[in-house]
Amino acid sequence: MMDWTDRHCRFFHRLLTRRALIYTEMITTGAVLHGDRARLLAFDPAEHPVVVQLGGSDPQALARSARTCADLGYDEINLNVGCPSDRVQDGRFGACLMAEPVLVGDCVAAMKAATGIPVTVKCRIGVDDQDPEAALDALARTVMAAGVDALIVHARKAWLDGLSPKENRDVPPLDYERVYRLKRTYPHLEVVINGGIATLSDALGHLAHVDGVMLGRAAYQEPWRLLAVDRAIFGETPPFASAHAAARALIPYIEREVARGTRLSAITRHVLGLFHAVPGARAFRRHLAIEAVKPGASAAVMADALALVLDRPADLPHIAA
Ligand SMILES: Cc1cc2nc3c(=O)[nH]c(=O)nc-3n(C[C@H](O)[C@H](O)[C@H](O)COP(=O)(O)O)c2cc1C
Repeated sequence: MMDWTDRHCRFFHRLLTRRALIYTEMITTGAVLHGDRARLLAFDPAEHPVVVQLGGSDPQALARSARTCADLGYDEINLNVGCPSDRVQDGRFGACLMAEPVLVGDCVAAMKAATGIPVTVKCRIGVDDQDPEAALDALARTVMAAGVDALIVHARKAWLDGLSPKENRDVPPLDYERVYRLKRTYPHLEVVINGGIATLSDALGHLAHVDGVMLGRAAYQEPWRLLAVDRAIFGETPPFASAHAAARALIPYIEREVARGTRLSAITRHVLGLFHAVPGARAFRRHLAIEAVKPGASAAVMADALALVLDRPADLPHIAA
């Protein structure tokens, strides 16, 4: 998620779930091909499985970008066909590509030909006055013909004229039924649903209709929910018995990163929502908010913040997400 997530966030989330697939924020082909690659595309091996999301609409530029990302070791390439910002529309990519399904198919085909890893697309159910039945169907058919490995559908339209990107995440109504119908129409297409899914029990409900669920804001703002993913969705033991234990495991990473010149707050900003209904959660957040931004702040600030919050096992009902 642009402006929110980064490699520190992904490393932290991976401490909470071994099994969830983790995505980068959108990175444009221009940035991949001409930008500071080391900064934009770096990831820690611990993040696997990790997907890079590309923004673009030139099949050749996407193919070259996808090859670069595959060579770096990303596990999957995802193409953004859902972002509604003006900047993106000027570049003729993101959600406005819902109106150009043939071009999206060409992009997928080019990326598939350039890499040996899965290529997926994240889209909306339509834009502006498009009919979601026809628009999503047309997109699905062209990307399937191009060999797409999965389609992630944010289950609402984007209104490109008149709504801000933030409003476009809340205002157009959600239509989960449209996504379920897509799966019923194309049973061989892997369909992942996204949009407004707040809890793991809601996610389990969706899994009766589709193959996967993507969480955006809930995962970022309430990362404690991720600690329940491996057990609730995959029937496996979570990586740590408590949010506290996962946070303690972040400390060696923080020490490494701070030694390399990373500001402490660049990492700790992602952990503020880690404790939910746990005594000391507010004090934890407050300590980090005040101390982590100070010049020279070190991993000791995180250890001190953790000393303020109770270590409670994740199996208690409060974390049954
Ligand atoms: C701050 C922010 C940045 C986002 N950036 C991206 C992005 O880079 N790529 C993308 O596909 N979606 C992006 N999204 C949209 C989310 O991935 C997701 O589709 C949307 O928030 C709806 O899902 P949710 O209700 O689970 O958050 C962003 C959302 C937010 C809040």
